[in-house]
Amino acid sequence: MNREDFPMMNTGYIYLDNGATTWKPKYVLDKINNYYTNYTANAHRGDYDLSLKVDSEYENARDIVKEFINANSRKEIIFTSGTTESLNIIANGFFKEILEPGDEIIISESEHASNILPWFNLAKTNGINIKYCPLDDNHYVTLNNLKKVITKNTKVISLAHITNVIGDLRPIKEITEFAHANNIFVVVDGAQSIPHIKTDVKDLDIDFLAFSGHKMCGPTGIGVLYGKLELLEHVTPQNLGGGMNESFDNVNEVYLKSLPTRLEAGTPNIEGAIGLGAAIEYLQNIGLDKISEHEKNLRKYLVSKLSEIKHIDIINEESDSGVVSFNVDGIFAQDVAVYLNKYKICVRAGSHCAKILKNEVGVKNTVRISIYFYNTKEEIDKLIELLKDKNKILNEML
Ligand code: ALA
Repeated sequence: MNREDFPMMNTGYIYLDNGATTWKPKYVLDKINNYYTNYTANAHRGDYDLSLKVDSEYENARDIVKEFINANSRKEIIFTSGTTESLNIIANGFFKEILEPGDEIIISESEHASNILPWFNLAKTNGINIKYCPLDDNHYVTLNNLKKVITKNTKVISLAHITNVIGDLRPIKEITEFAHANNIFVVVDGAQSIPHIKTDVKDLDIDFLAFSGHKMCGPTGIGVLYGKLELLEHVTPQNLGGGMNESFDNVNEVYLKSLPTRLEAGTPNIEGAIGLGAAIEYLQNIGLDKISEHEKNLRKYLVSKLSEIKHIDIINEESDSGVVSFNVDGIFAQDVAVYLNKYKICVRAGSHCAKILKNEVGVKNTVRISIYFYNTKEEIDKLIELLKDKNKILNEML
């Protein structure tokens, strides 16, 4: 679908590592290039036409994000460097100040490092306890399993909407309903979900959401922190400096700007925000429903083909997303990736930053295929052809 929009298609690679990052369409590249070619200036600092044009494009990108996730207000959209920074801001700028020793945060063993390590840090600084939601036989989080670990001390549930190795889609709406009835905050890591499924923060009633631009056809180094306005108002800026203050004097009297600027110190990532806005326009033009449908069908095809190969063990046969993780019997995952690379096929191998998932699935490393709307059955067929013959892999992997 829409392959002609992507200059990277001309390289001849088969790119199946979209969970790591995606390729960028010309529409996004042109918007970024246009900023650097025709109206380069800083944002929020100039009184001349060029700078006002930058302000307007940068803030327009915020409006695009707001509409895309159906937030209530543009003040709820903070541009960050990505999911990782967004989650760190929430942990350190909000929860660090309100959590007390003995409070509990629930995560799962299939989370990415970005949704584990900031909480580990709070365990050290605030004496909170980290608890893990038990996963079911398919390695899924269910509300029933969550209920087993929720206690009167539970203050936060922080989960990926879709995980990056298992690819399971969590029942966020059910979770927020139950959590809010019990005064528990819900934080959602949307890095692997926002690019692939329609996400409505109001409908899902999410308290905080983090996601990245580069996994959704946008540039690297830009991401979003969404928070309900009444919560974001209480987030302490982790970065202090230009742009975010109204005034200060020489006796340490600092007046901060209102949201969203208060949480965006320094020169913002202007090209990033403009590129992200363009990426969202691009995806919306195709249609998120169409994207999800295509990925679902392609995943089904991929899983059916992989299942026919005896020496392949699929870790997440049943999942709902374009993420498929597997191993070739007796061959180290990274060797499989290096072998496929010889044929210009890009997959990711290793623990995929989900380093405690091994406790759950029993293997430390996997080969991961993560598809996007521009992948095709023909590409899957080429991959399958190369994986079919185990001796070929063994002979050629080094
Ligand atoms: N989090 C990214 C991945 O899963 C980098 O590959």
